[in-house]
Amino acid sequence: MRTKLNLAVLPGDGIGVEVTREAVRVLSTVADVHGYDFQFRTELVGGAAIRETGYPLPQPTLEACLSSDAVLLGAVGGPEFDALPPDRKPESGLLALRRELGAFANLRPASSHRAIEDCSPLRPEVVRGADILVVRELLGGLYFGEPRGFTAEGSAGFNTMRYSTDEVERIARIAFEQARARRQKVTSVDKANVLETSQLWRKVVTRVAREFPGVALDHMYVDACAMHLVSNPSRFDVILTENLFGDILSDESAAIGGSLGMLASASVGGRVGLFEPVHGSAPDIAGRGIANPLGAIATAALLLRYAAEMEREARDVEEAIGDVLNRGFRTADLVRDPRTRAATTEEMGVAVAEALTGICERRHAFHAV
Ligand code: IPM
Ligand code: MN
Repeated sequence: MRTKLNLAVLPGDGIGVEVTREAVRVLSTVADVHGYDFQFRTELVGGAAIRETGYPLPQPTLEACLSSDAVLLGAVGGPEFDALPPDRKPESGLLALRRELGAFANLRPASSHRAIEDCSPLRPEVVRGADILVVRELLGGLYFGEPRGFTAEGSAGFNTMRYSTDEVERIARIAFEQARARRQKVTSVDKANVLETSQLWRKVVTRVAREFPGVALDHMYVDACAMHLVSNPSRFDVILTENLFGDILSDESAAIGGSLGMLASASVGGRVGLFEPVHGSAPDIAGRGIANPLGAIATAALLLRYAAEMEREARDVEEAIGDVLNRGFRTADLVRDPRTRAATTEEMGVAVAEALTGICERRHAFHAV
């Protein structure tokens, strides 16, 4: 466990700024309650960085991240940058950061909270008990494959999907290790009926599986997986997949929890871990204080778990989130009954921080008896 943490905080764009504030509030509460030393250093990334410096990942930001114990990021992107070429967009700053940190394993848990079951567009009996971990390869595939670009006359664009044995092996190991600590099941998702990369993927994953005899492996095509995720999500434990498939399937898995605003992610395996909610900058609701901070707060819990080895503290934060939901707190995205007044981003953050303090105090009182 590391009780002294230097954290690089990159709020980024849109609601990233608002939800990150609440995640920092909760991390500060953890530090206060336990007497830990968490230092926060805020840096620019994405559109905010382009506006100030012309670059989506300025050098000082990268250096701050590389010398930190973990990076907490909000979101990047916005409509004013739509016309920029892909390699100059806010998103390219995030991709460069993932690559520079070496964060190749993106862990995206998705589960159904009983208290907000009614927020899912899926029937309660379909989502009840669903608890999935998407393990998304983050540094390969179409996102990074070369060559890429436009033809000289601009009449065609192209990208390359490419995976090496090593890249598949290392992400597969992460998925099996995660499954070992869960329900011992990995579903590897590919498109091996069409793509060579997927045929290699399948072969390598099957081989890695032999190192984990206790874990069951099955393979599924990505189109079938997209269907099973919403028709029978409880059949999954760990979903292991490549970069773009994982991007799409993890957004789809938000249907299980009821809102994209609930989903957290951890990008690990490199020099420094990168922690960001799954949702984007949501320009349509940015600046209004109504965004759901629970995804960002759950991301803070993942940071405690994976960057600080604070399993207890991570669980406390997750329990605090459950607490406020059970007590009826709902941001606008979670409101189903029109008579319910939606909590603001800040009210939700404060409620979680208070619930967390309560959980920790009760435990101390119990141990003092
Ligand atoms: C995500 C996002 C990013 C991705 C974008 C913003 C580059 O959609 O983290 O899922 O595609 O990886
Ligand atoms: Mn995405």
